[in-house]
Amino acid sequence: MSYSRVAGTGRYLPERIMTNADLEKIVDTSDEWIRTRTGVERRHICAPDQTVSQMCIEAAKIAMDAAGVTADDIDMVITGTTTPDLIFPNVSTIIQHELGIPACTAFSLEAACTGFIYALSTADKFIKAGESKCALVMGAECITKLVDWKDRNTCVLFGDGAGAVVLKPSDEQGIVSCHLGADGQYKDLLYYPVGASNNLAAAGTPAANIMMTGNEVFKVAVQTLGRIASETLEKAGVSKEELDWLVPHQANIRIIQAMAKRLNLPMEKVIVTVQDHGNTSAASVPMALDVGVRDGRLKRGQLILMEAFGGGFTWGSVLMRL
Ligand code: COA
Repeated sequence: MSYSRVAGTGRYLPERIMTNADLEKIVDTSDEWIRTRTGVERRHICAPDQTVSQMCIEAAKIAMDAAGVTADDIDMVITGTTTPDLIFPNVSTIIQHELGIPACTAFSLEAACTGFIYALSTADKFIKAGESKCALVMGAECITKLVDWKDRNTCVLFGDGAGAVVLKPSDEQGIVSCHLGADGQYKDLLYYPVGASNNLAAAGTPAANIMMTGNEVFKVAVQTLGRIASETLEKAGVSKEELDWLVPHQANIRIIQAMAKRLNLPMEKVIVTVQDHGNTSAASVPMALDVGVRDGRLKRGQLILMEAFGGGFTWGSVLMRL
């Protein structure tokens, strides 16, 4: 078995939907501004008592069902998230226990919006090394719990959700290559100023808001994603023309369009969910993947490029055959 391959996908979105019209009532913004600058039309918002693990469990059940696996089959759980239920234990252990998965390797990792790409790439290595036979990999976020609803610069952008995949060894080509990167010199352009060892007392106060220099983030995101897309294809010896689909991080429709242009892909070959989900950080790529799989656009054997970019900055791409 020389590859790891996605055996099933799933997603969960919280019930409550907040439209741009709803936001117009709480901050000085307009549907027109939000749609033209970001592409977002609505987003799902988790309930006050809803956690990342609860959302992951729902997404995981659907992915496990699609993959035809039970809890007993899973031997590894990895979750990419910046908004775990607790500081510890890590959220994957909560998910493992609640799903009835036997004791196994379970950890979470934080790479902001790139969390799922980092998690998938990690699981791919474990499977290729023969150390996992069935990995549950998730990206999930209750990012709106960090949002200051009085700050129009950031509150219009984000949404909540969870995406999951089951990854298994395969003789047929699955994940072709993964490319991860990060550069901490950009920390001040996008961060949340509270952590377990820093400024914890400010959590939940107006002092603790998502800090973002939007236009600078935009520029570096477009440059970096364009570069890694080219590098990924080059290293895999794949031409742009061979690519069937782009499943990008859903932060802003203008970033997605710039990526499609760079890859010579018509927008019909790009899975776009930003209008319905907003930026769901680590959940955005696995949820977009699931949308494409379930509506029948993404088919077995097709070549798909997934990519993401987030605070840090972190970035990454996964080229795979579905
Ligand atoms: N409604 C109305 N006006 C708003 C607004 C809102 N929600 N948010 C900002 N504005 C205003 C600003 O105050 C500014 O007004 P001014 O010109 O009078 O000062 C004006 O709109 C332009 O602001 P600017 O920040 O230059 O807009 P922009 O075209 O860069 O778009 C973002 C802002 C955030 C949509 C865009 O920069 C972006 O998407 N950046 C990337 C963000 C991102 O992807 N983050 C996550 C990375 S994973």
